[in-house]
Amino acid sequence: MKYSLSLTVNDEQYNLLVEASHTLMEVIRDGIGLTGTKCGCEDGRCGTCTVLLDGELVKSCLVLGLQAQGKSVLTIEGLGTPDHLHPLQIAFLEHGAVQCGFCTPGMLLTAKKLLDENPNPTEEDIRHTLVGNLCRCGVYTHATRAILSVARKS
Ligand code: FES
Ligand code: FES
Repeated sequence: MKYSLSLTVNDEQYNLLVEASHTLMEVIRDGIGLTGTKCGCEDGRCGTCTVLLDGELVKSCLVLGLQAQGKSVLTIEGLGTPDHLHPLQIAFLEHGAVQCGFCTPGMLLTAKKLLDENPNPTEEDIRHTLVGNLCRCGVYTHATRAILSVARKS
């Protein structure tokens, strides 16, 4: 059985029919077709599916799609575009904080939330914040420098 779901993703309204068991990650990727939100562990450990739900960081594999009814989601596609990259995206490129890129969408959204709440974080604050975003390529030092550089410019 499917249920209707209305939500906003990256400022666009979507009305979908979803199974009760579909996660928000599945709704975003399979229902809407925004595949920038990556699917990793599917049990909340890797952080690669991280999005902002009504401004709060969530691991979208741990949220049911129906829990997003009437809410607003920001995915990596809404952070910046190829023509208008977000300052964090530019900094990640400049500091070599992107290798395979699989963890990058979740890491960038985590970094955005950090800077929204704490525009002047310490290196320790950043390292602590990134603990929920696993990177098998080990870009943490580069990502930390990139986030610090954006904070210093703001
Ligand atoms: S896919 Fe959601 S935390 Fe790993
Ligand atoms: S850049 Fe490859 S997993 Fe992080």
